[in-house]
Amino acid sequence: MKDFKNKVMFITGAAHGFGQVIAEGGAKRGMRLALVDIDGPALEKTYKTITDDLGAEAIMVTADVTVEDNVDNAIQQTMDKFGQIDLLINNAGIALPGRIWELPSRDWEWIMHINLMSQVYAMQRVIPIMLKQKTHGDILNVASIAGLVDTPGMPSYHASKFASVGMTEATAYDLQRIKADIDMHVMCPGFVQTDLYHTENHRPEQYSDPSDPYYQSEAYLKGQQFAKYVITNGKPIDTIEETVFKALEDNRFYILTHPEFNPLISDRVNRIVNDGKPDVHIMDGIM
Ligand SMILES: NC(=O)c1ccc[n+]([C@@H]2O[C@H](COP(=O)([O-])OP(=O)(O)OC[C@H]3O[C@@H](n4cnc5c(N)ncnc54)[C@H](O)[C@@H]3O)[C@@H](O)[C@H]2O)c1
Repeated sequence: MKDFKNKVMFITGAAHGFGQVIAEGGAKRGMRLALVDIDGPALEKTYKTITDDLGAEAIMVTADVTVEDNVDNAIQQTMDKFGQIDLLINNAGIALPGRIWELPSRDWEWIMHINLMSQVYAMQRVIPIMLKQKTHGDILNVASIAGLVDTPGMPSYHASKFASVGMTEATAYDLQRIKADIDMHVMCPGFVQTDLYHTENHRPEQYSDPSDPYYQSEAYLKGQQFAKYVITNGKPIDTIEETVFKALEDNRFYILTHPEFNPLISDRVNRIVNDGKPDVHIMDGIM
């Protein structure tokens, strides 16, 4: 996708962080936008910036994208308004630290639903729309460097992001086989300063049980502190808009933002093919 003007972007998680700056980037390039997020008041602010300040045409849909019907409804509203979707950005996501013997199953279900299944729900619906349009389409799934390398302390995040990367790669093959004019992309950033450590603010009711003592435990509180530390010490977000649109223009599949982590990707692949095993010391000096 080289010419973004008048193309329609459907983007989840548009109220904060990556979603907000990517949506604003689309507006600056003349795109029409469907902005989706669970955080209605914050989404309203993004919507106002995009329509009033940047002069773009947009709709906003407050939705919990872990719920299939909500995704359905958001896509329907987009089609009713714009009649097409050219760029799907599956960005909404959360981070949940917590070791496997501590993190409750409901948190596993939550993270798999938001980081993986919300992407599945949108792709199930948008790919047939793109195929029918017979125009070029792009789909960008926001995964993470945590979908390419493993680290201690957040197995649920790794599981959801490895799944997102694998699903995106496998779908790219399937689309090539049917000669679809749809390009897939997967974004795998390292730590960037966003609101990601405020994940608790976006916990849907169906994944909530305040009576579970886990949410008062030291393990939980330490996890929250860890998330805050790594995100607030991440890279500033200001380069992300340019990185994403340049990658779409260049039709890159893997969108990486932190080259300093590339040796970790190579180490993992070498470990697999050379009969190695995870060694926690690989993370010394990194996290
Ligand atoms: N910030 C980082 O360091 C980093 C690194 C790698 C990957 N990522 C990924 O980037 C994506 C965006 O995260 P971010 O860092 O901008 O964080 P963020 O918290 O600033 O933004 C995430 C957005 O998703 C929305 N959201 C959460 N649950 C939702 C739900 N159920 N339905 C609809 N919207 C929901 C939130 O309201 C928020 O607007 C995530 O998938 C995250 O895993 C972030």
